[in-house]
Amino acid sequence: MRYQGIIFDLDGVICTTDHYHYLAWKALADRLGIPFNEKDNNRLRGVSRMASLEIILEKSDKTYTQEEKEAMATEKNDTYRQLLHQITTADLSQEVKSTLDQLRAQGCKLAIGSASKNTPFILERLGLGSYFDAVADGNCVTHSKPDPEVFLKAAEMLGLSPAVCLVVEDAHAGVEAAVAGGFECAAIGDAKDDPRATHHLSTFSDLLQATK
Ligand code: BG6
Ligand code: MG
Repeated sequence: MRYQGIIFDLDGVICTTDHYHYLAWKALADRLGIPFNEKDNNRLRGVSRMASLEIILEKSDKTYTQEEKEAMATEKNDTYRQLLHQITTADLSQEVKSTLDQLRAQGCKLAIGSASKNTPFILERLGLGSYFDAVADGNCVTHSKPDPEVFLKAAEMLGLSPAVCLVVEDAHAGVEAAVAGGFECAAIGDAKDDPRATHHLSTFSDLLQATK
């Protein structure tokens, strides 16, 4: 086994929550009269909630106070949390679960490294509430990706150095964060062809080959 630990991003890697993020941001943007489409939503991949809001407000001609911005972020999150109730254990694909099980059976420690403050809730909905050996998320970091803090925290919780861990990411900001932290990275989905990644995964189960 090439790595002792694997740190997974959550949204877009373990599960698909992008559309729920989109619907929740879209509801807020519509209410504020700000243009926002699925292409704009792609820019928010891996980006923290407040940083995402700032990107959306780039297209607004009004300026808002910090208090107003915090209320907007809460409004978006309330809509998002409602939508997350639709997630069930059926949303965890067989491919993802079986790949995780095989990696673990090979002696690899498994962790989550996500920007999302909703990580515990999403893992619970997917039936993975107590599955991972460590969970580092938006609740325990002060710097968001592309800062490596969340991955360094996950490695520390696993008791491993970045040099022996692999990060799996679907966001360019996440690939950048992994490399900045001294990790090798496997890129999938939107970030698949990112040249900074060591492995380029067409599908999640390609990880079994990449980690041999
Ligand atoms: C990341 C998502 O995983 O989490 C981003 O890719 C999201 O789109 C970020 O903004 C923060 O999520 P949350 O759930 O804390 O608002
Ligand atoms: Mg992601």
